[in-house]
Amino acid sequence: MLLKINDIKQKALIDINSVKDMAKLDVFRIKYLARKGLVADLFDDLKNIETTERPAIGKSLNELRNIIQTLFDEKKKFIEALTHQQKQILDLTLPGRPKWVGTQHPITRTLEEIKNIFFRMGFSEAFGPEIEDDYHNFEALNFPKDHPARDMQDTFFIDEKILLRTHTSPVQIRVMENHQPPVRIIAPGRVYRNEAVSARSYCLFHQVEGLYVDVGVTFSELKGTLVAFAKQFYGSEIKYRFRPSFFPFTEPSAEMDITCFICKGKGCRICKNTGWLEILGCGMVDPGVYKYVGYDPEKYTGYAFGMGIERITMLRYGIDDIRILFENDIRFLQQF
Ligand code: PHE
Repeated sequence: MLLKINDIKQKALIDINSVKDMAKLDVFRIKYLARKGLVADLFDDLKNIETTERPAIGKSLNELRNIIQTLFDEKKKFIEALTHQQKQILDLTLPGRPKWVGTQHPITRTLEEIKNIFFRMGFSEAFGPEIEDDYHNFEALNFPKDHPARDMQDTFFIDEKILLRTHTSPVQIRVMENHQPPVRIIAPGRVYRNEAVSARSYCLFHQVEGLYVDVGVTFSELKGTLVAFAKQFYGSEIKYRFRPSFFPFTEPSAEMDITCFICKGKGCRICKNTGWLEILGCGMVDPGVYKYVGYDPEKYTGYAFGMGIERITMLRYGIDDIRILFENDIRFLQQF
């Protein structure tokens, strides 16, 4: 009899573990605690036990019943608490959790717009490495060694020959090294300059480079293309002008200004009261560059241009500190 009692106790301890809901708990109750359950059966058997042994066995039986009852009570409490909790989790009056939706970075947006305008004019896209060598960033672009023009761009050097590109113009060289004319590409990307970080300048920014080389490409085509671009991007009402300039890799070189799209040319803080904004540098590819890439300068002519993305993005979206474009503060980015 004592063996039986112990056996039922062990079984009950195992059974209670698989009870996970009220229905299973009721099955447990009927099996052990009900009027026809295992414990009641044992009590019934008590009458067949010798009277002398009855008190001891009766005591063990009572203990068994108490243990199983406690198992039952505690499990019941546990399941009740759980269902209560689940009911709270399913509170249908709670406001929903908002989904995080990504937005396009303002720089990406500006880049996409610029790219699409040039794609429609037949340009394709080219890329080059951000970690460049001196040869592609300077030498092949006709920057003579020790020429002061190298100092125009405060360069981050990695070692004597390797550096972070200071402009996207080395992509011109890489494209011409690998393709024969006609080439007509734009090259967007990051560039790096070791300038003091402030609201107006940062150690990295973006440029879009353009290059078109073929037989008989002229300066008026350069102007025509850039004017068509500027009118699409800044609006057809803008006025423009080309000022002579200097770049080692273009000859002649120019900078393009447009009437300030903030004050419409009247003069304001942004255009420093001139009414004009400088938007890009450009020029005809210097024949000196062709000798580095193996093009015949007697046969081919071409133009190149390069523009910065940050400033025009800031003007467009009314952003007054360049650094915020690189901090990636979600409160800023979500506004776009
Ligand atoms: N690479 C020049 C710069 O960073 C811009 C430029 C590109 C000028 C192509 C002429 C032709 O200032």
